[in-house]
Amino acid sequence: MIVRKAKSISGSIIVPGDKSISHRAAIIAAMAEGESVIENYAAGEDCASTLRCLRQLGVDIEQSGTSVTVHGVGITGFRKPSEPLDCGNSGTTMRLLAGLLAGQGFESVLTGDESLRHRPMERIIEPLNQMGAEIGSNDGFAPLTIRGQNPLRAISYEMPVASAQVKSCVLLAGLNASGNTTVIELLQTRDHTERMLRWLGPDLKVSADSDRNNSIEVVGSSTLRGREICVPGDISSAAFFMVAAAGLVDARIKIRYVGINGTRAYLLEKLRSLGVYIRLNPENDSYFEPATDIRVHGLGMSSLKSGTVFGSETARLIDEIPILAVLGTRLPGGIEIRDAKELRIKETDRITAIVENLKRMNATVEEFDDGFRVWKSELKGAEIDSFGDHRIAMAFAVAGLFAKGETTIRNPECADISFPGFYERLESVVKR
Ligand code: S3P
Repeated sequence: MIVRKAKSISGSIIVPGDKSISHRAAIIAAMAEGESVIENYAAGEDCASTLRCLRQLGVDIEQSGTSVTVHGVGITGFRKPSEPLDCGNSGTTMRLLAGLLAGQGFESVLTGDESLRHRPMERIIEPLNQMGAEIGSNDGFAPLTIRGQNPLRAISYEMPVASAQVKSCVLLAGLNASGNTTVIELLQTRDHTERMLRWLGPDLKVSADSDRNNSIEVVGSSTLRGREICVPGDISSAAFFMVAAAGLVDARIKIRYVGINGTRAYLLEKLRSLGVYIRLNPENDSYFEPATDIRVHGLGMSSLKSGTVFGSETARLIDEIPILAVLGTRLPGGIEIRDAKELRIKETDRITAIVENLKRMNATVEEFDDGFRVWKSELKGAEIDSFGDHRIAMAFAVAGLFAKGETTIRNPECADISFPGFYERLESVVKR
């Protein structure tokens, strides 16, 4: 994929439905009784993997474009699959389904592509073992063999890592436990599972204790009821257009109907703190996930400020770090990202991928074990390696708009994991 320097961007676009919310919508609707119609289900291979696995587990699902109808089977109504369940590239599919499968009275196998088979699964194996499921693995990695148990033991689990996938895995397993299961998180992560569970029914308590830890409690053997679900646009996909606009003079972009759930949309605050002009239409908060139109007006580099992303901020921006790194090359004092070790175990080692590609584009950058620092740099077109990671490919396509000359993205098709049609949509708003 070849990307050329842009003068500016302008236009009004939509981005695919939120990937995190779509996975949860399909899985939790499958655990419900009755029918759920999911509108604006995320396009992209990751969420297609979730539907494929659910079908293998005996769930009847109809799909017409981005409208998906799930005929729920109840919390214990799944069928033993005859083949391993292939989660493709999707960590969310594997970790959430592991929670669902732990409470079924049969054995099943979860596997995935080369990248997913190198991502750590100990973080879910440990709590699921505590709950009474037996999980076999390849030394902490997939394929995972799940010997389910029903009912599971309810536990109180304090999470050693800030991970919404781990939290969700334990909460979904908790639906099939006898008693109440509690997850305590030291840093609050995206709460889409909690919202979806509440939307479809069961009693769920969320509270913060005196140390400001977030604790979520789910009641075992709850009944969920199918319901209509409308998925807002994905802010992590909108992020590429927001940063493209922020980094170009006289850019105006409107991204319609984007999810701005407070546990997920910290990017808005961060970009504002970096001097980016953002306007939100009054939010539609009547629904279980708030959403609105986002407008970004790029005023040029002189209006931007330098920044850092440290500590709890990093967890709240975890999927947006690649594109913030690209923005860093336009900030007067650059940007420093720390406490980001988790980036090393995403779809690829994102710290290495960011640093390597920024260097190829002539940026000044320093790598740390837990992050990197990038200084303001005049980018030059180069040959970029996506490392097969969708967010790296898309972030560097935006870098290509800022760079002199031509940028070639190798392996660009991985963008289809979360955003089929990304390059065409980006090109459609570019002014040269
Ligand atoms: C996700 C949680 C995050 C995020 C991922 C999606 C989710 O992962 O990076 O893209 O949908 O729960 P971790 O749970 O590993 O932090």
